Amino acid sequence: MLAAGIWSSGQPRAAQTIWLDTLDLKSLQQGWGKPQINRSMRGKPLSIAGRHFERGVGTHANSLCRLDLGGGTDKFIAWVGLDDAAGGPGSVVFRVVADGATVFDSGVMKPDQPAKRADVDLHGVKRLLLNVTDAGDGIAYDHADWADARFIVSGDPPRPVAPQTEPALVLTPKPGPAPRINGPTIYGCRPGHPFLYRIPAQGDRPMNFSAKGLPEGLNLDSKTGILTGTSPERGEYKLTFTATNRHGKDTRSFTIVSGDKLAFTPPMGWNDWYAFKGRITEKIMRQAADLMISNGMADVGYQYVDVDDCWANAKRNADPLRVGPFRDEKGNLVPNHYFPDMKALAAYIHGKGLKAGLYSSPGPMTCAGCAGSYQHEAQDAKQFADWGYDLLKYDWCSYGRVATRPLTLEGMQRPYMLMGSLLKKQDRDLMLNLCQYGIGQVWQWGAAVGGQSWRTAGDLGGELPHVFRVALQNAKHREWQKPGAWNDPDYVQIGHLAQGPCPLTPTEQYSFMSLWCLMAAPLFYSGDLTRLDAFTLNVLCNPDVIAVDQDPLGQCARVVPLTEETFLMVKDLEHGAKAVGLCNRDDVPHKVVARWPDLGVTSRQPVRDLWLEKNLGEFDQAFEADVPPRGVVLIRIGEAGN
Ligand code: GLA
Repeated sequence: MLAAGIWSSGQPRAAQTIWLDTLDLKSLQQGWGKPQINRSMRGKPLSIAGRHFERGVGTHANSLCRLDLGGGTDKFIAWVGLDDAAGGPGSVVFRVVADGATVFDSGVMKPDQPAKRADVDLHGVKRLLLNVTDAGDGIAYDHADWADARFIVSGDPPRPVAPQTEPALVLTPKPGPAPRINGPTIYGCRPGHPFLYRIPAQGDRPMNFSAKGLPEGLNLDSKTGILTGTSPERGEYKLTFTATNRHGKDTRSFTIVSGDKLAFTPPMGWNDWYAFKGRITEKIMRQAADLMISNGMADVGYQYVDVDDCWANAKRNADPLRVGPFRDEKGNLVPNHYFPDMKALAAYIHGKGLKAGLYSSPGPMTCAGCAGSYQHEAQDAKQFADWGYDLLKYDWCSYGRVATRPLTLEGMQRPYMLMGSLLKKQDRDLMLNLCQYGIGQVWQWGAAVGGQSWRTAGDLGGELPHVFRVALQNAKHREWQKPGAWNDPDYVQIGHLAQGPCPLTPTEQYSFMSLWCLMAAPLFYSGDLTRLDAFTLNVLCNPDVIAVDQDPLGQCARVVPLTEETFLMVKDLEHGAKAVGLCNRDDVPHKVVARWPDLGVTSRQPVRDLWLEKNLGEFDQAFEADVPPRGVVLIRIGEAGN
């Protein structure tokens, strides 16, 4: 087809039509399946609200088609909408973005809504993005059609291009050689129980540690900074830690509250699940403890070394060494071949000043088919304490099979109430993490049944591209969160995971950590510690960022929506400062403005970029930043205080 030509070097040049479906679309990215040529995602003819189209591309949110136009395209024309064969309640937004500016936006489109026509002028445009988002509610049934989609071209034809790989930048300056004491400033324990705390401190070793105000019964190893002994009687104890080396010294106040409450700040550590799944061994766990010391994670506050599912025997498993009886003749749990000595493992972890966590289920079996604690709860709670563990993750799994039907709220609470009260009776501090995926609005009662943290949703595993949505969902329960009671949106999955390298871009990995810290989420890294690179370590170990997570107020940031794709997260910090995330969940960059009234701030304020550890100066009424696609610019407004 010929259309009106343009004049180039004095010669008329006929414009031609190039159909989107004729281009090589292998670089098109989408959230599910593969792009379909002249077909819907279900392989049927393209159809939007009963209208059929011969040509076009069936795709699925979130979908990104990047094209290099080189200035040669005059127009893009298409009909867009949800395909009739999707079979469920999807919702999407179609956008055309030309050199960074949105030139077409369909608004939210729902099933059976008539196709909308995009007809955009692209003269001189170099880079084009055809984008379908999930409209913010997940990608289920988001079968999206670019129907009759074509370019009117009078220069070079459009060329689909692969996304540019983003460099994995280390944003934070390397820690200096002088001591810097990190970690929480408040810590809970129960009177008369074994006490263990390793003062997290960066800086060259040898380092000398001392503590003023140490209560009776506690000892500090001046070389390692490990505090041990017996928790003091009920009360609040104000300490000052000092760390000294040949480059300088640092001091930090630390309050021990001996009473009932544990986890005054979100627990931090490492859990093996997303790195090893069913292949975990005691050897890997010991190595993890070694690595957390040698790679500096323990120096910024990571503390728990936590074995997930698959340490106990299973009835069936591809690996016969993981199969065996659930319990011995006395009814005690039997660990599998790879965990020859659970007590020695906890002792090994404790020897480094770190804490040990393990996993069970209130059902007869764990999710991976290993022994659960059903009908052995008291015996297991005692066993976990006798072995020396400090944390239990208690995963619903097969409990549904033995729960009384119909399942009532009381029925959901029962197994956790039971384990919660049993753990409290042990002669050591054992934290309880409720893993039941948020059923029965667990955030409302998790603390009352004895939990210190509870998962607010299912496994984040498959939802990595949706960290923004998962975070916004978790943040909805913010008012239930307080010191000792934490909403848990699941583990931090960056770096190397069981299935390979983390699929998120470097920017998204920074966002992941920023969002988790703004929400005061428990910080459990769950990637492979043996394959940590400088980038991943940087994302995990920035002490300014972690201080946002560990702030003693324990607040989950509130969300201030700005546009459909941008929002602020605002978190009050202890000394009157605020942590603010300028968030862009879009696939294109956006300018995001944090206005003082949105933050509840009135006067001139110092602003610090927390990832860069850089003071940006003082600002009067607002702070604005260009936020990259799916990025979070994390700042602190006001002075830190200590
Ligand atoms: C569930 C949990 C995960 C993990 C696995 C182990 O899916 O939610 O975090 O513990 O079980 O089988």
